[in-house]
Amino acid sequence: MLMARIAGTGSYVPEKVISNHDLERMVETTDDWITTRTGIRERRVSTGESTTEMAVKAGRMALRSAGISPSEIDLVVVGTVTPDLVFPSTACLVQSALSMRGGIPAFDVAAACSGFIYALDVADRYIRSGTSKKALVIGVDVFSRIIDWNDRTTCILFGDGAGAVVVVASNGREGILSSHIHSDGTYWELLYTPGAIRHSPFERGEQRDHYLLMKGNETFKLAVRSMEEAVKEVLQHNGLSPEDISLFIPHQANIRIINAIKERLNLPEEKVFVNIKKYGNTSAGSIPLALDEAVRGGLIGRGDIVVMASFGGGLTWGSTAIRW
Ligand code: UT7
Repeated sequence: MLMARIAGTGSYVPEKVISNHDLERMVETTDDWITTRTGIRERRVSTGESTTEMAVKAGRMALRSAGISPSEIDLVVVGTVTPDLVFPSTACLVQSALSMRGGIPAFDVAAACSGFIYALDVADRYIRSGTSKKALVIGVDVFSRIIDWNDRTTCILFGDGAGAVVVVASNGREGILSSHIHSDGTYWELLYTPGAIRHSPFERGEQRDHYLLMKGNETFKLAVRSMEEAVKEVLQHNGLSPEDISLFIPHQANIRIINAIKERLNLPEEKVFVNIKKYGNTSAGSIPLALDEAVRGGLIGRGDIVVMASFGGGLTWGSTAIRW
């Protein structure tokens, strides 16, 4: 059976570190509050690097680790909600920056923190249908641009980051077993960015702020519930149980969300990958950045079952199971 196998991974974070102590000097908060409520100690922020530049760095690294040249890629999908431009898409800019072939499909998927799981789902389906053979899939966000750095309820949570995978068609047993994506737009007001697009002079209404708004408590509860359900769905679909998971890579939004899911699924600590301490929530970058760190740290071996689950604005959520 045709499968989509992950042939290489890559990631990138900007150099500038903003610690909780730095934030103490910017808003009324404490390192202790942030650490105990979120598990985050520091995050990276771009000091001028664009979404495209970050995506290109992660993508180039994934291509190198797969041993595949950019000219072989026949599909580019980028999960992001912080593109540099309204259009063209980040995927087109990446295609150009990496000198990929002209004529291949390249497009973005907007699913906030679920952007990578959505993008990977698309690539998996393109590959399993025989339409594509070698895809570059990237999750990237630069939330530092849409965060109100005076709002202590949101600025402590997010950071910038990118991650990428090269997915290739394969006839073996290894690859993406299945992925499942969901959304429920009735919850859109829990987490959103009101006004990156300005009103025209012909419209009524005030220009809106472009900062991210979030109802943290409600989002928290839905995050736990939907990610738990998404993991159960992907396990059930493949006849697996939580004990079969070699490594669980959850979206890194809040350590308390991750711990709640870990307990509900009865997963041991060592099977849950966590790097939120260093990066905070990097939105669509979160899961591929964690995946790349897990691969490079030697935590994933051939035949392992890797399960990933995400949750984000939309609301969107989803899961993927991979036999490595
Ligand atoms: O990808 C999905 C993205 N979104 C999320 O994952 C968000 C999910 N939600 C969360 O992570 C949590 O709800 C937060 C970390 C945002 C907030 O934690 P919480 O434990 O739900 O705190 P809370 O909102 O209930 O606030 C508790 C108290 C409040 O004070 P009072 O009303 O009890 O006096 C807040 O004003 O903590 C206060 N507070 C802060 N204090 C110090 C809120 N933010 C801060 C802060 N520093 N940064």
